[in-house]
Amino acid sequence: MLISGSTKVFALFGDPVTHSLSPIMQNAAFRALQLDCCYVSFLVRQDGLAVAVKAVRELNLGGVNITIPHKERVLAYLDQVDERALQIGAVNTIVNQDGHLCGYNTDASGFLASLGSVGFETKGKRVVMMGAGGAARAVAVALVHAGASRIDISNRSLNRAESLADDLRKIGADVDVCDYGVCFFEAVQNADLLVNATPVGMYPNHEDAPLIMRDRLPPHLLVCDLVYNPPQTRLLKEAAAAGCSVINGVGTLVHQGALAFELWTGRKAPLDLLQIAVDTRGRFSCVNPDQTRDRRRDR
Ligand SMILES: NC(=O)c1ccc[n+]([C@@H]2O[C@H](COP(=O)([O-])OP(=O)(O)OC[C@H]3O[C@@H](n4cnc5c(N)ncnc54)[C@H](OP(=O)(O)O)[C@@H]3O)[C@@H](O)[C@H]2O)c1
Repeated sequence: MLISGSTKVFALFGDPVTHSLSPIMQNAAFRALQLDCCYVSFLVRQDGLAVAVKAVRELNLGGVNITIPHKERVLAYLDQVDERALQIGAVNTIVNQDGHLCGYNTDASGFLASLGSVGFETKGKRVVMMGAGGAARAVAVALVHAGASRIDISNRSLNRAESLADDLRKIGADVDVCDYGVCFFEAVQNADLLVNATPVGMYPNHEDAPLIMRDRLPPHLLVCDLVYNPPQTRLLKEAAAAGCSVINGVGTLVHQGALAFELWTGRKAPLDLLQIAVDTRGRFSCVNPDQTRDRRRDR
């Protein structure tokens, strides 16, 4: 891809960002459609978010993806927030139109598309959610709209889980909150779907113990990990060993990325190609990119 003076730049803001496969995926799509665009990632710390968003206008970036841990706080810095993103309370995609920044949430639809691809029918199902951050908000609102009958939320900080539960009740959800103790394990026994919306198990901390182990996972459960790097997290390995069905975060990543691409370019995203880009790179996931380069040089 030739970068010129007219190349439109898109970016990812987050902390961490080195694990992200979004640059690989979005650049593959730009190339395939021969668009004069490129996508890069920026490490943006908590206290740098306001300045980074201001820079989207100053540097005339085409748009931005927002990831951990900024999806909720970023709303305060935008000119406009799409209705669904406002209801979710989290933004993962910003479109810059001549300095006017509008926020969207493509995680919610991306997650539902991913669930749909494994034939999971959400209507009437009971869900347990681990986490109450930006991704959990998107997933929970999506599940309520898709007819989930109950959502139990467990989170390290209970006040954040309570705040999400309050928002979900406003849209008619039957929802409860518990810590990672007995009531969490009981809820899991009675659930149809367990979602990990925390970074536990994500590179470079992929060896960390999951929040729940195989002896607590009933085999009828579908276990979904939003983490996609590594593609098979320790949680998913525990779940598979317990006889559960499993789904990783790659499907959500690809679908949310396709929707963001469409918001930025007005063009249909090449879904198959995004999937291939992620799958190819996925073989190197869980490896520091510098080490990968070193290994190639050594060959
Ligand atoms: N596959 C995809 O396309 C996709 C899309 C979105 C997100 N994700 C992934 O989902 C994860 C969460 O992202 P996010 O944007 O929601 O982040 P976030 O807004 O920062 O929220 C993180 C959540 O995880 C909890 N958490 C963090 N570290 C924890 C730990 N060590 N033990 C227990 N809980 C912990 C936090 O609890 P506290 O409230 O106590 O801090 C919070 O509820 C990330 O790994 C992200 O990459 C994947």
